[in-house]
Amino acid sequence: MIIRRIAKADGGGGFSCGEPTLDAFFVKHAYRNDQAGIGRAYVILDAPDATEILGFYTLSASSATPELLKPVLGSRLPKYLLPVSYIGMFAVATSRQGKGIGSELMLDALMRSAAAAQAVGSTGVFLHSRDEKSTAFYAKLGFVSLGTEATHRPMFIPMSVVQRMMNDQASRSTSQ
Ligand SMILES: CC(C)(COP(=O)(O)OP(=O)(O)OC[C@H]1O[C@@H](n2cnc3c(N)ncnc32)[C@H](O)[C@@H]1OP(=O)(O)O)[C@@H](O)C(=O)NCCC(=O)NCCS
Repeated sequence: MIIRRIAKADGGGGFSCGEPTLDAFFVKHAYRNDQAGIGRAYVILDAPDATEILGFYTLSASSATPELLKPVLGSRLPKYLLPVSYIGMFAVATSRQGKGIGSELMLDALMRSAAAAQAVGSTGVFLHSRDEKSTAFYAKLGFVSLGTEATHRPMFIPMSVVQRMMNDQASRSTSQ
């Protein structure tokens, strides 16, 4: 598997994850938004020369209110908006769901967020989960619900937890 930045041709073959809005976003906007700096897009493929897109996500700098983040970060927070990394879109192709690709993509998104946070402050990684199924998926990967909404529920993982996950990952791969 390889994960890389989106290329212009990637939308040409279409994409189908079972959510028409995500599919349409990928084809129409993912590359353009990436180029405009609105949201960097990353794709996963079987091999460097493969053309079938198995999944993608977008990552941006964003902010969230201290009220929203307080349940996870505690109450000793400034009163102004706090920096976060934001996963705007996240999807795996229907034919390849349930095979660990989503987990691999998320690890990549968290790794890039942790790397960016070394240079630009970020309290954690934030997203809105589309439905109960995706909420279960994100919760399994360590995200905490910041609400009880059935759709578009805000979820968050603190950068301290992401950093710990990255350190564990690094020590596992050096001991192999
Ligand atoms: C949600 C989605 C990204 C998950 O990707 P995936 O590649 O299928 O997930 P994985 O195979 O990596 O699964 C990781 C873990 O989450 C669990 N999981 C995955 N989908 C799940 C679901 N729908 N309900 C509950 N748990 C789920 C898996 O059981 C697995 O746990 P395990 O490691 O203990 O077996 C994918 O199903 C998808 O793209 N769905 C449609 C689009 C969508 O809803 N995107 C999210 C937008 S917010």
